[in-house]
Amino acid sequence: MTSKKELQVAYGLAIIFLVVGILSYAAFPAKAPDQPVRLMFEGVAGNVLFDHKTHTVDSGYGIACQDCHHNLEAGETNPESCGACHEIESGDEDVPKRSDAFHLQCIGCHKEGDAGPQECSGCHVM
Ligand code: HEC
Ligand code: HEC
Ligand code: HEC
Ligand code: HEC
Repeated sequence: MTSKKELQVAYGLAIIFLVVGILSYAAFPAKAPDQPVRLMFEGVAGNVLFDHKTHTVDSGYGIACQDCHHNLEAGETNPESCGACHEIESGDEDVPKRSDAFHLQCIGCHKEGDAGPQECSGCHVM
């Protein structure tokens, strides 16, 4: 048998948990992720898995957003996709086409830092 006193304690605790819950939720609002964790590029040459997060975080390779998203303003976190400007077949000779843009940037940095895959099969693995 539940006594009235026990019920009061139970309700009291329930209310405390509810209030604590609401406060914690307000203090740490769920934040939508700004950037992708992993990206898979699919193409005729074989799919490329790009670990976006490891390239950016300090515990990974610590590369700044602007080093790749070269049109991004400082402090901004929502870049346009590369393909928005680099078309599959570029009409403008000053703007590399999409696959050249990726190859120049990805392989360029891997060569420069002598770290990361430079061979076709190092990226086009699947
Ligand atoms: C080593 C290169 C590199 C770095 C550093 C990098 N990104 Fe990216 N990011 C990419 C590539 C490549 C894509 C895929 C773009 C595409 O599909 O056209 C991408 C995609 C994104 C997207 C999805 C955009 C879309 O709609 O296609 C967001 C958001 C993003 N990056 C944010 C960031 C932020 C914020 C940082 C810095 C903390 C950052 N990136 C650092 C290379 C990089
Ligand atoms: C808002 C348009 C826009 C977006 C988005 C964009 N680019 Fe570019 N990109 C350009 C233009 C325009 C040029 C040519 C002029 C210049 O170098 O700025 C260029 C040039 C380049 C070059 C050649 C630079 C050089 O040093 O010769 C590379 C490589 C490149 N982009 C890669 C990328 C990659 C990879 C992404 C996505 C992470 C990206 N771009 C996103 C517009 C864009
Ligand atoms: C500004 C420099 C930079 C750019 C740009 C860059 N990378 Fe890397 N990447 C690195 C470094 C540094 C490593 C680490 C290599 C190591 O630790 O041996 C790496 C490693 C890798 C690896 C192997 C390990 C892993 O994390 O999966 C792959 C695959 C890779 N990069 C793909 C890409 C692709 C695809 C792009 C273009 C969309 C790209 N990278 C652009 C610097 C860069
Ligand atoms: C550092 C990683 C990396 C290396 C090394 C690399 N690629 Fe790529 N490659 C990519 C990425 C990223 C794309 C972009 C895929 C897309 O357009 O969605 C791509 C696109 C392509 C495409 C065109 C697009 C398609 O639809 O398939 C071809 C062809 C290609 N690569 C061939 C090669 C060849 C050949 C080599 C060796 C000489 C090579 N790649 C080396 C990352 C790499």
